[in-house]
Amino acid sequence: MFVTVEGVEGAGKSTLVAALAEALRARGADLVVTREPGGTPLGERVRALVLDPRESIDPLAEALLMAASRAQLVGAVIRPALERGAFVLCDRFWDASVAYQGYGRGLGAGPVIELNRVATRDLSPDLTLLLDLPQEEALRRMRSRNGELDRVELESVAFHRRVAEGYADLAQRFAQRIVILDARLAPEALAAQALAEIDRRGGARGAAR
Ligand code: TMP
Repeated sequence: MFVTVEGVEGAGKSTLVAALAEALRARGADLVVTREPGGTPLGERVRALVLDPRESIDPLAEALLMAASRAQLVGAVIRPALERGAFVLCDRFWDASVAYQGYGRGLGAGPVIELNRVATRDLSPDLTLLLDLPQEEALRRMRSRNGELDRVELESVAFHRRVAEGYADLAQRFAQRIVILDARLAPEALAAQALAEIDRRGGARGAAR
C-alpha cells in the first residue's frame, strides 16, 4: 500500500509520519519511509537547491525540479518497494506540486497533474492523509519554529493561502483517495485516526508479514 501525508507548512506532517512509521514497524510491516522533495541522493540534492533562499527559480523550472526528484524516487525507491509488497509511507507526493506550483505559483492544476503523470508514470497514492489547519494557526506555527525558513516557506501570506485552497480543491476532486484530518488534534489522537483509516482500507494488514 502506498500512503502519503500532505498539508500546509506547520501542520505536523513529520510528527505524524514518525508516529505512523513506529506503529507500522511494531506490527512487523515491511515499511519504506521517504520524503519529497528528496528521498534519493539525487532528490536530496534537488531539495537543497529548490529550498535554498539564495536561489531565484522560475515557477516552471521549480515544478520540473520537483518532478525530477519525484521521477527518481518513484523509479529507484517507491515502485521497487511496492512491487515486492512493501508498505510505502511518503511525506508529500504530487499533490504538493499541484498545491504549491499549480495553485501557489499559478501554473494551474491541469498542467501540473499532466507533468506528474509523466514523471511518475501514472502512479498515485492509495491513500492520502491531508492535515488541515486554519491559516492563522499554520502561519503562527511556522513563524514560531526554531531554525531558518526555507525558500518556499518565506513566500507571502497570499501564496500560502493559495496553497491551502489548492489542497482543499484536491480533497474535493480526489475525495476517494484524500482523507482530511484535523491537525489541531493531539499527536497521539491524530496518529490513531490515521492508522484507523489505513486499517479501514486493509493496508496495514496487507503490509504485515
Ligand atoms: P517539507 O517542508 O514538507 O519538507 O517540504 C519542503 C517544501 O517544498 C515545502 O515548502 C513544500 C515544498 N514543495 C513544493 O513546493 N512542491 C512539491 O512538489 C513538494 C513535494 C514540496
